[in-house]
Amino acid sequence: MNKPVHKFYSDAEDYWSKIPPTIDGMLGGFGHISQVDVQGSRIFLQQLFKSKNPPGRTYAADCGAGIGRISKHLLLNIFDKVDLIEQNPIFLDRAREYLGSKLIGKVGNFIPVGLQNFQPETNKYDIVWIQWVLGHLTDAHCIQFFTNCIRSLKANGMIIVKENITSSEITDVDENDSSITRPIHFLKSLFESSGLDCYRQMKQTSFPKELYNVYMFALKPKVHESETNLEITVSTNTPGDIVSKLNTGGELKNDAANVPELVFQNEVKIGIVL
Ligand SMILES: C[S@@+](CC[C@H](N)C(=O)[O-])C[C@H]1O[C@@H](n2cnc3c(N)ncnc32)[C@H](O)[C@@H]1O
Repeated sequence: MNKPVHKFYSDAEDYWSKIPPTIDGMLGGFGHISQVDVQGSRIFLQQLFKSKNPPGRTYAADCGAGIGRISKHLLLNIFDKVDLIEQNPIFLDRAREYLGSKLIGKVGNFIPVGLQNFQPETNKYDIVWIQWVLGHLTDAHCIQFFTNCIRSLKANGMIIVKENITSSEITDVDENDSSITRPIHFLKSLFESSGLDCYRQMKQTSFPKELYNVYMFALKPKVHESETNLEITVSTNTPGDIVSKLNTGGELKNDAANVPELVFQNEVKIGIVL
């Protein structure tokens, strides 16, 4: 995709402004996969709650929330409070009705802002859920957004990304909704460059074959070198454990302000669904 950043975002805004505020609208005509999607997410989340240092269940953020599909069927049933962050205010208005009177009381804030401009509070969320929206952010904004999300996490907090993945090595471009779909290694390099470790990943099963592969990633802030050094003095970790925690590779720079236009490596233009 070769257009100015502001047009990448304004084209997406235009696209979503014409989409009906329905489940089918949120899922590109594949509303019928919603239940399977939520079921896969629930299993993933349950596994995380069984892990050694599980996240709390107090506060979640639903990023790119649309009309609140994930909040309604997953997050609000697990967490005491959920914030919905969404660029299209019409979708958030619809969410107020869609969630219903019982669940709405558990919504902390409806936040009508693009994720590229989202400034979450520090130390607020146990889980930041980001589903089917990262393709609307530039690489630089992904890194900036993840960095902000890291700051917003409580102790043991995690970021969950659930996203379409290309089966090829190249980034697909959808001019229709002004989005991109990244290969898995590229998405992972964005996590790495943001200071996130991929703690768990799982492929969503039972989706229609014509859709992209969809993966869930549980991401944790990297252990800082100083903390790792501390671990060496107080724990019985083997050198191999420590070395694996010091993996700080990644080539992307967190320099969102200086991106003149979108440049995605090895891109190809094809029609895509969702
Ligand atoms: C495919 S829908 C997914 C909605 C929801 N995550 C779900 O799974 O039901 C993508 C959503 O991302 C929103 N969106 C697009 N660009 C965005 C941006 N830059 N910041 C925040 N939300 C954005 C759209 O308005 C839309 O609601």
